[in-house]
Amino acid sequence: MSDKTAKLSIGDESWDLNVRSGSVGPDVIDIASLYGQTGKFTYDPGFTSTASCESKITFIDGDEGTLLYRGYPIEQLADHGDFLETCYLLLYGELPNRAQKEDFDFRVTHHTMIHEQMRSLFSGFRRDAHPMAVMTGTVGAMSAFYHDSTDISDPHQRMVASLRMIAKLPTIAAMTYKYHVGQPFVYPRNDLDYASNFLHMCFAVPCDDYKVNPVLARAMDRIFTLHADHEQNASTSTVRLAGSSGANPFACIAAGIACLWGPAHGGANEAALNMLAEIGSVDRIPEYIARAKDKSDPFRLMGFGHRVYKNYDPRARIMQKTTHEVLAELGIKDDPLLDVAMELERIALSDEYFIEKRLYPNIDFYSGITLRALGFPTSMFTVLFALARTVGWIAQWKEMIEDPSQRIGRPRQLYTGAAPRDYMPIDQRS
Ligand code: SDX
Repeated sequence: MSDKTAKLSIGDESWDLNVRSGSVGPDVIDIASLYGQTGKFTYDPGFTSTASCESKITFIDGDEGTLLYRGYPIEQLADHGDFLETCYLLLYGELPNRAQKEDFDFRVTHHTMIHEQMRSLFSGFRRDAHPMAVMTGTVGAMSAFYHDSTDISDPHQRMVASLRMIAKLPTIAAMTYKYHVGQPFVYPRNDLDYASNFLHMCFAVPCDDYKVNPVLARAMDRIFTLHADHEQNASTSTVRLAGSSGANPFACIAAGIACLWGPAHGGANEAALNMLAEIGSVDRIPEYIARAKDKSDPFRLMGFGHRVYKNYDPRARIMQKTTHEVLAELGIKDDPLLDVAMELERIALSDEYFIEKRLYPNIDFYSGITLRALGFPTSMFTVLFALARTVGWIAQWKEMIEDPSQRIGRPRQLYTGAAPRDYMPIDQRS
């Protein structure tokens, strides 16, 4: 706790506000009592200067371009660990020992099947529905099948619901893909690791013996780790706000999926690949750079810029390396979209506009090229992001529920609407 104080003065009145320090990162000015003391609100649409909670899970230094999960740098977790180890770390705060890891892997692996009746949910959707629409609906429907783990006041039920979502989201995501492409669903297999099982459920077909490529499975697993959590981003804040009302965890995660879908957030990986395809060749890059800088043009470079990172997104570096690994493993010598992406990055990073506004590639800039090479259609990219982010949403939801000081989130507003006025009968209106 800091012993520093901030002084707020308005006219001849002044108030002292407590300043708190975290373990790393900016101090916060505690304004929880501000309205009670001053009768005034703060105003921060988009929450650019607002800490909505205290958390021990993930830390981002936007200026340095660093990302820590429970204090561990993302680079080290991506290189040395696997996704389920990262899940354990995010949920429980420490890396598992061997026995804990084996137990966690076993429990997740043995909960990957979904209730058989959930299969009929898919047939209610059009085949050409966007996979994120199917994911939002199907994950929300989990609370209609797993209502024995929706009592958020019961720690055991919270743990069961958390494990069920980490285990079953890949199955639901794979079924969403299979339904989208008109192929039969493939059941999970307990003899495969998490990422291999997911790829098998997506790409195995009854008429062929599908062997998972271990290099591609390792890449998929690392991509999940990169997307696992990212402090109080829009979808995580959505999950926390939904959870603050006491809504069940399945409904909260469905709300997070809905928010992630937006092109300014998780939908940017799909939008970024579509943008690279639209640019098509390096000679058309200057035209798009000019459009991105033109205030009268709504076009933005998708996969560029970030609310927090004012330096290179560390995940983008790892993703770029993974892109090269996957393309090499698949024998793809030159991918025109990768050529466009790397030249676009080179030009943008030397352009005064992007330098001045500190716009760098984010995680979504290279992920689409990798996911397309792995065999996924563009429309599935944000589904994969949601699959991976589910553990982060759950860890943040769990932290909020277990915080004894948590209350329902209820922001206020600056009202600029009509002043009080009396009702006018319709025959007196102009
Ligand atoms: C994710 O929050 C997270 O942590 C999210 C995420 C996670 O892991 O959860 O990291 C995942 O969502 C990554 C971001 C993916 N989105 C995109 O790639 C979409 C393109 N990027 C932009 O829409 C934008 O950069 C945002 C939404 C990411 C950030 O927007 P901000 O913080 O509100 O910044 P801004 O829009 O105010 O931009 C600041 C300036 C503006 O110019 P001015 O008004 O100051 O003149 O930079 C410009 C913007 O016009 N700008 C861009 C740009 N991004 C910002 N100009 C061109 N191209 C861009 N991509």
